[in-house]
Amino acid sequence: MRKILVAGNWKMNNDVEASLKLTENLKELSKEFDQNVDVIICPPFVSLYSVKQALNGTSIKIGAQNMHFEDRGAYTGEISPLMLKELGVEYVIIGHSERRQYFNETDETVNKKLKSALKYGLKPILCVGETLEQRESGIEKQTVKNQIVKAFEDIDLSDAEKMVVAYEPIWAIGTGKTATSQQANDMAAFIRLAIADTYDRELSEKITILYGGSVKLDNANEILSQSDIDGALVGGASLKAVEFSEIINYSK
Ligand code: 13P
Repeated sequence: MRKILVAGNWKMNNDVEASLKLTENLKELSKEFDQNVDVIICPPFVSLYSVKQALNGTSIKIGAQNMHFEDRGAYTGEISPLMLKELGVEYVIIGHSERRQYFNETDETVNKKLKSALKYGLKPILCVGETLEQRESGIEKQTVKNQIVKAFEDIDLSDAEKMVVAYEPIWAIGTGKTATSQQANDMAAFIRLAIADTYDRELSEKITILYGGSVKLDNANEILSQSDIDGALVGGASLKAVEFSEIINYSK
């Protein structure tokens, strides 16, 4: 049985003070968290250290929102996987559509980042998803399959097992428009098929697949009850401690 995972992507929100306040509120609420749900929060880089310290003694895990694929060097403004490891970061979001859209992230850099994260023991949350235009032209599955195939290129099965995949249709991110639970589940099932093609069926059945895109308290239960969806990558609603906690406790 795959465990449910709920991850909060804070994006470029919350300075250190606000990050700590949100963390303290979550810690308080975490006493009531459903123990069957793994919880991750992904604050901005500058808050990672303080938030990680504040999370000591809780079961909430911490992730970064991006990283460079090199471990060091002349890459002004970048953060290396080793720097994340030093802070006790466990997860890292790779290939978020906002990075693909605004920061020149490509399938090639996504692949390099995945290999580097895995090499240093970080668990990647790989984001894939189509634009509205691609969905309307009926090429959403082909688009996502391409992203999956290129992302996993030359990654060993033993490493692939450590990955989490998040299906985030771009048209549903921050728009208030959610994919229907049927659309989300169809794509999650399709991603399993693509992974079975690339590796094997066993991995495709084991791998955690999240849905992301306007997940809120009022749609969490329906989306997270789908057979092929194992959790959510939550943006806006993860900035509010109570709403995020209620999403975590969607089945209570
Ligand atoms: P929203 O939940 O704000 O739509 O963001 C989704 C997302 O991009 C999570 O990574």
